[in-house]
Amino acid sequence: MAKLIVRGGTPLKGKVRISGAKNSALPIIVAACLAEGESVLENIPRDIDVYTISMILRELGADIWFDEADRLHVIPDGLEKHQASYDLVRRMRASFYVAGLLLARLGKAEVPLPGGCALGSRPVDYHLKGFQALGATINIEHGYVKAEAKELVGTKIYINRSSVGTTMNLMLAAAQAQGTTLLENAAKEPEIVDLAIYLNSMGARIRGAGTDVIRIDGVEGLKGTEYSIISDRIEAGTFMVACGITGGDVVLDNVVPEHLRSTILKCAEAGLEIEEGPNEIRVCANKRPVAVDLETAPYPGFATDMQQPFVAMMAVAEGTSVIRETIFDRFRYVDELRRMGADIKVDRDTAIIRGVEELTGAPVEATDLRAGAALVLAALSAKGETEISGVELVDRGYEHLDEKLRQLGAHVTRIADQEDDDLTKHLTTSFLERC
Ligand code: EPU
Repeated sequence: MAKLIVRGGTPLKGKVRISGAKNSALPIIVAACLAEGESVLENIPRDIDVYTISMILRELGADIWFDEADRLHVIPDGLEKHQASYDLVRRMRASFYVAGLLLARLGKAEVPLPGGCALGSRPVDYHLKGFQALGATINIEHGYVKAEAKELVGTKIYINRSSVGTTMNLMLAAAQAQGTTLLENAAKEPEIVDLAIYLNSMGARIRGAGTDVIRIDGVEGLKGTEYSIISDRIEAGTFMVACGITGGDVVLDNVVPEHLRSTILKCAEAGLEIEEGPNEIRVCANKRPVAVDLETAPYPGFATDMQQPFVAMMAVAEGTSVIRETIFDRFRYVDELRRMGADIKVDRDTAIIRGVEELTGAPVEATDLRAGAALVLAALSAKGETEISGVELVDRGYEHLDEKLRQLGAHVTRIADQEDDDLTKHLTTSFLERC
């Protein structure tokens, strides 16, 4: 496993450019495969999840590559296979978006059931119910979801609980269905709006994205186009907290402050000074953060993906904070924070954090992507050296996190292992060429 060695105690200072949003990039790369002709996508982060989805689509027959200017080209015309490979799909739940794509494009899809993950049981029952409502027959055989539809027909679909993945998968499936689809209780995340804008720029007719009712009037065909995706609000939030936890002064460039509203408010409540410009945010932390209570919720509520980074900051805050997680089972990593001296009690979905003056470096292991980020943040503030293993999980969703932290003055060294090196080389070099 690759490791990061972090020597804590240096306040972060300087400017950092925030990358494109992973959780927009993934569905948008899949959406590009619904169309005829080439799409050229900008602001796509070079993280492992982006490479994984691209590999899955390449195996299905699409042509996808990065050019020298870091733009991702997608030519889906050769996409003719309807079976996605287990080896790649099991790495990432978001690969289930190919089910909506294949149903819409080929009328049939065989995609491995994603199964559980480090965030607990993560079913896809809402996705499947939605496909059925659009007219697909669904069977689960040998671990694969087999979906088939001669024709998808628009209808009203009520999504039981606000679900980002379900809303996106149904937008992909319904964009070219017969008639009108109404998605009720749809998720409202900025990434949903981004997907709708991109689909509309290819000729789709989607209204209401960003509200809880999305209307999709099916169109005959979509045409590839050029598009630049939004920047990553979770990466931006992670850097805000990194600044807060180290007592730094950092400017975040290439951000959309409106997408960060709940994070900005909670960071301000914790005592960080925040100035907003049109595309940048300056964060300044002159004193120890103070304890803040919060509850995660679907957008515009406080993002579950920011819960772990925020808990890391609360671990060294003045006072006691109570943080409730309402979306996933996402507190396993606190055992690792405790190894660094954090005083955290977890009672089911709630963490009670008594802030300590200082954490101390220790060997710890990332258990998932955002948990890994939280450990990096804790390590930046800790006394002494922290060795974080399982860093490939962090690489899934942060583009060059260690490099960006070094630019801000942090003492972070990466110890790559052979497997990590091989994978990175393979992914980065093979994506510089057309297949
Ligand atoms: N749910 C079901 N059945 C379904 C779908 C969802 O019960 O068929 C439940 C989930 O178990 C969860 C809730 O509904 O309790 C919401 O899940 P959602 O579908 O919104 O999550 P997701 O689409 O699987 C995306 C992000 C996650 C982010 C969540 C919540 C992507 C690729 N992933 O997941 O991001 O935490 O929305 O905002 O967009 C991350 O980036 O680290 C990450 C995990």
